[in-house]
Amino acid sequence: MSFAEYQNELYAQGQTGHQPQYPMTFAELEERASAAMPPKVWGYVAGGAGDEHTQRANCEAFRRWGLYPRMLVAPATRDMSIELFGMTLPAPVFMAPIGVIGVCAQDGHGDLACARASVRTGVPFFAGTLSADPMEDVAAALGGTPAFFQLYTPSDRDLAASLVHRAEAAGFRGIAVTLDTWVTGWRPRDLRGSNYPQVPSGCLSNYTSDPVFRRGLRPGEDATEAAVRELPIFGGPFRWDDLDWLRSQTRLPLMLKGICHPDDVRRAKDHGADAIYCSNHGGRQANGGLPTLECLPDVIEAADGLPVLFDSGVRSGADVIKALAMGATAVGVGRPYAYGLALGGVEGVVHVLRSMLAEAELIMAVDGYPALKDLTPEALRLVG
Ligand SMILES: Cc1cc2nc3c(=O)[nH]c(=O)nc-3n(C[C@H](O)[C@H](O)[C@H](O)COP(=O)(O)O)c2cc1C
Repeated sequence: MSFAEYQNELYAQGQTGHQPQYPMTFAELEERASAAMPPKVWGYVAGGAGDEHTQRANCEAFRRWGLYPRMLVAPATRDMSIELFGMTLPAPVFMAPIGVIGVCAQDGHGDLACARASVRTGVPFFAGTLSADPMEDVAAALGGTPAFFQLYTPSDRDLAASLVHRAEAAGFRGIAVTLDTWVTGWRPRDLRGSNYPQVPSGCLSNYTSDPVFRRGLRPGEDATEAAVRELPIFGGPFRWDDLDWLRSQTRLPLMLKGICHPDDVRRAKDHGADAIYCSNHGGRQANGGLPTLECLPDVIEAADGLPVLFDSGVRSGADVIKALAMGATAVGVGRPYAYGLALGGVEGVVHVLRSMLAEAELIMAVDGYPALKDLTPEALRLVG
């Protein structure tokens, strides 16, 4: 599959007088999305923890690295496919889980729109626990395109187990358990507006549709009201022994999201993790932390062959290439696809993903890297 082809499509449209409908740079994407989203949703999606230093540092970290161009290679085709959990995926990019993605769409069904964008692009989607539509409906929209389920573990183990078993039954190909959000971080933008977004945004459908959750309802009780009453239903302390319990609940590949320290990687391996998902939640949870990209090389070394997924601060195809060259197995796009969704629904998400992949593939072409295996840490140089 050639992602670079998107460039030709865009130029060809120009021949018939059609200029691209959606932004070609992240800066414009962000600006137009801010106007397209209701202010509370915008504040929630764009905002982060504290003064958002870590969030910005995630992006800035990419600028400290540069890729060596290699000439006289001129690869006519570039292979961007990857192997993960025994599957061949067409692209080394995925849509990171975004809990309120439902309300980023103008029709309130962003989870379904992203599933459809995944079918169109082959870019895997991480369906979230905090979803506007139940995971079974998201899986139906995916129609067999490989996707993963992101788990927030409720303290009630029966409910947690039910979510896991539903994800397995719905056909998701792996579960990423998010470890850094057992308590909500200090988020001034949301606090300023007293905006606890999961509540009004109606992203609780995985609970309200859950048989274990519904068993606990009082006669005649509204399920959403009950879920809101139990907020933060999605969180609660989650420790190493809880991980052992979770491991015992599913045969699906288990990814641990939020791991950034090499010692945690080694311990995760001992506890049966199938992949590490290196992320600082886009700087949304704890300010003052390291940019995730800075943590990636040590995480990869400690993972010692275990797949390492990565996100936080990826804004372009060039960023994707740098994370891959460091050794990431696959790279997660976060806020950019939420912005594309707000602007153009399925089409907007498809545009953001295809643009990022086209740029990444064209960098491989121009700089002489025929396949992802050719992108190694030696291809990168620290520039500042
Ligand atoms: C609005 C929003 C909601 C998110 N919700 C979740 C979530 O429910 N579960 C989760 O594991 N990560 C969640 N994340 C974190 C993303 O999976 C990812 O780690 C982050 O967006 C990467 O940072 P970036 O968007 O700045 O690149 C969310 C991120 C955003 C922006």
